[in-house]
Amino acid sequence: MHHDHPYQRELEVALEAAHKAADQIRYFSEHRNELTIQHKDTYDLVTNADMASEKIILAMLKAAFPEDQFLGEETGGPQHMGIGRCWIVDPLDGTTNFSHNFSPYCVSIALYEHLTPLVSVVLEVSHQELFVAVKDQGAYYNDQPVKVSSVQSITKALIGTGFPVDDGYRYDALLKVLKGVLEDTQGIRRTGSASYDLCCVAVGKVEAFYEVGLKPWDVAAAGHLVLEAGGKVTDFSGGGSWLYGREIVAGTEKIQSWLAGLIQKVT
Ligand code: 2AM
Ligand code: CA
Repeated sequence: MHHDHPYQRELEVALEAAHKAADQIRYFSEHRNELTIQHKDTYDLVTNADMASEKIILAMLKAAFPEDQFLGEETGGPQHMGIGRCWIVDPLDGTTNFSHNFSPYCVSIALYEHLTPLVSVVLEVSHQELFVAVKDQGAYYNDQPVKVSSVQSITKALIGTGFPVDDGYRYDALLKVLKGVLEDTQGIRRTGSASYDLCCVAVGKVEAFYEVGLKPWDVAAAGHLVLEAGGKVTDFSGGGSWLYGREIVAGTEKIQSWLAGLIQKVT
């Protein structure tokens, strides 16, 4: 990445916070007897690793950028984009994976100005994979520039997804989408971390990804990565409400359009 972009300091602080938070999460993964798991509801988990990670990240961001706003999964914040800048933080994306000692799980930090993403960092904790995007500077995987896949045919496309686990969720419509994807593509992958799934789109490991029920902190940073990697990101209707709208379809121009079309057709 060129070093003359206007968000150098923001990126520096975000990277430092992500690494420090990842160290904390890694500590808990190596001292599992110190891990406490609580249930927000029947399925939604939060651990002391999530809490400690968010505390570290928000303390560093707030100290460096006291004028900005902050939305963190565990401590809350503005649920819609107002004026000014807002940091959107998922201290541990893939908590269910983490609690089962299953990878991937990620720290996700993004800075938005209104609906424009400026700086995004996703750090996969267990394998130390770093994904970075800066507005108009492209997307990077471990410091190497990355692009979305060049695969054009649906039959050769691999599709990422995740499944909502909310109490009482009706899966009928979603199973129709799954059927369509399984019939026409090379297959489905489900990593258990939405930010990691989106990073897989950005680096071209999968051609597209869709999921319903996600929150802004799950998609803020990695959605930006897809855009900077030359991909397309929309809600299920093909509109722009993917950050707060709890529906996201991301992918290469062609496969994303096909997938959004399938979702509209069958749901
Ligand atoms: P989380 O680990 O930060 O909660 C799995 O498909 C993805 O869905 C993960 O990125 C997970 O993020 C997210 N997710 C959103 N809401 C969830 C919920 N209620 N329970 C479990 N995972 C949830
Ligand atoms: Ca989380």
